Amino acid sequence: RITRLDAIEVLDSRGNPTVEAWLQLEDGSEGSAITPAGASTGANEAAELRDEDPTRYGGRGVQKAVEQVRGEMAGALVGKDPGDQSTLDLLLCELDGTPNKARLGANAILAVSIAYARACAHSLQVPLYRHLGGDDAVVLPVPCLNVINGGRHADNTVDFQEYKIVPHHATSFAESIRMGEEVFHALKKLLQAHGLSTGVGDEGGFAPNLHSNEQAIELILEAITAAGYRPGDDVSLALDPATSEMWHHGRYRFFKSNQSERTSAAMIDLWDDWLQRYPIVLLEDPLAENDWEGWAQITQQLGGQVELVGDDIFCTNPDLLQRGIREGVANAILIKPNQIGTVTETMECAAQAKAAGYGCYVSHRSGETEDTFIADLAVALGCGHIKTGSGCRGERTAKFNRLLRIEHELGERARFAGRAAFVR
Ligand code: PGA
Ligand code: ZN
Repeated sequence: RITRLDAIEVLDSRGNPTVEAWLQLEDGSEGSAITPAGASTGANEAAELRDEDPTRYGGRGVQKAVEQVRGEMAGALVGKDPGDQSTLDLLLCELDGTPNKARLGANAILAVSIAYARACAHSLQVPLYRHLGGDDAVVLPVPCLNVINGGRHADNTVDFQEYKIVPHHATSFAESIRMGEEVFHALKKLLQAHGLSTGVGDEGGFAPNLHSNEQAIELILEAITAAGYRPGDDVSLALDPATSEMWHHGRYRFFKSNQSERTSAAMIDLWDDWLQRYPIVLLEDPLAENDWEGWAQITQQLGGQVELVGDDIFCTNPDLLQRGIREGVANAILIKPNQIGTVTETMECAAQAKAAGYGCYVSHRSGETEDTFIADLAVALGCGHIKTGSGCRGERTAKFNRLLRIEHELGERARFAGRAAFVR
C-alpha cells in the first residue's frame, strides 16, 4: 500500500527545473526519482508539463507538474495497493486520460512511476535491476561515450550532435569504461596540442570549432591510437547526427558549418561513404523523424553493415515502433523512459523491439540529473549498450558509477556484452 506521495521542483544539469517525486510504502520502504529533459526532442514524445510562467525560470518551471503529483496523483494513489508496476502505470495513464500524458505531465508521471519501482525494490530487498529484470539481469552494457558534442548540444561549428567511442573489446564494464576514459583524456591532450578548445558541451563531450564534420572523426581515431588501442578492433565509433534538427523543407541543412543542403539520397550516400572509411558500428538518427521513406531505403542499403537506431522516429513509442517494423525502418531502437512516460511502457517497448530482432540502446537525455535509473534499466533489459554521456560531468559519471557498482555486486555472475550487442 502506498502511504505517502510527494514531489518538489529540483534542477537538471542545464540548470532548468525538473520534477522529483518521493513515495513511501506501508512497510516504510521509500523510493524517489528525478525526470530528465531533452533538447533535440522528437515531435511524438510524451508531453512535459511546464508552467509557461515567464516570471519564473523563463517559463520552464514545473510547479504545475509538482502540484499534479501532490494533488491528483496522491489523491488517487495514497491508501491504495497497486500490487505491481504495470497496474500502477496503467492507473497513472488512465488518470491522465490523454494519449501523450499532457494533462498530468509525462515529467510528473515518470518520476512517480520510477519512485514506485524503487520503493518496491527496497520493500523486496532486491536491487532495482533485479526487481525489473529478474535473475537473468546480469549483462553489463557497452558504454558509448559521446566525446565530441555538436548540433544543438554545443555552440560550435559541428553539425552532427554526437560522436561516440565504443570500447567494446573488453572483458568487463570496468575495463571498458577505463578504455573509454583513457581515450577521452588522450583526445583532450590532442585538442590542446592543436590549439582547439577543450570546453565541454551538454553531455560532457568536447565542443571545439572544427573545419569539417569529418575532422571530429579523424581526431577521435588519432586519440584511440594515442591511448594505445586499435580503432575498430578495440574501440569503434558510434554517431548520433540527430538529423531531425537538420530537416528543412524536405532536405537536410548543414545549419552550423556552411548552410549547404542535401537530399535524403545524398545523406544516405554520405553515410555509406563514412561506413566504408571509418570503423562505425552504430548510426542513430542518420535521417529525420519525418523521412520514413528515406529510413526504409537506408535500412535496406546499410542495415546489414551497421546498427541503425531510431530515436526521434520512434520516441520509445510501441505504435511508432510497430510501424517501423512493418515498413522495414531501422534495426534498433533508442530507449528513453521520458519519451513515453512510464516504466512499464518503456520496458514493453524494449520487449517488442527484441521480439522483432531489433537492438535496444538505453539512453539518458541531454538534460540529466544524479538519478541513475537508466543504469539499472540497461542491466534489467540486458540491452547490451548504453549512452549516458562522455567521460566527465557528475550527472553522466553517476550512471557509470552505478554500473560499476552493479558489476561489483554481481561478481562472478556479471557478463559484459561486448561487440555482439551491436546488431547488423
Ligand atoms: P536530447 O538528445 O536528450 O537532447 O534529445 C539526445 C539524443 O538526441 O539522443
Ligand atoms: Zn538521438
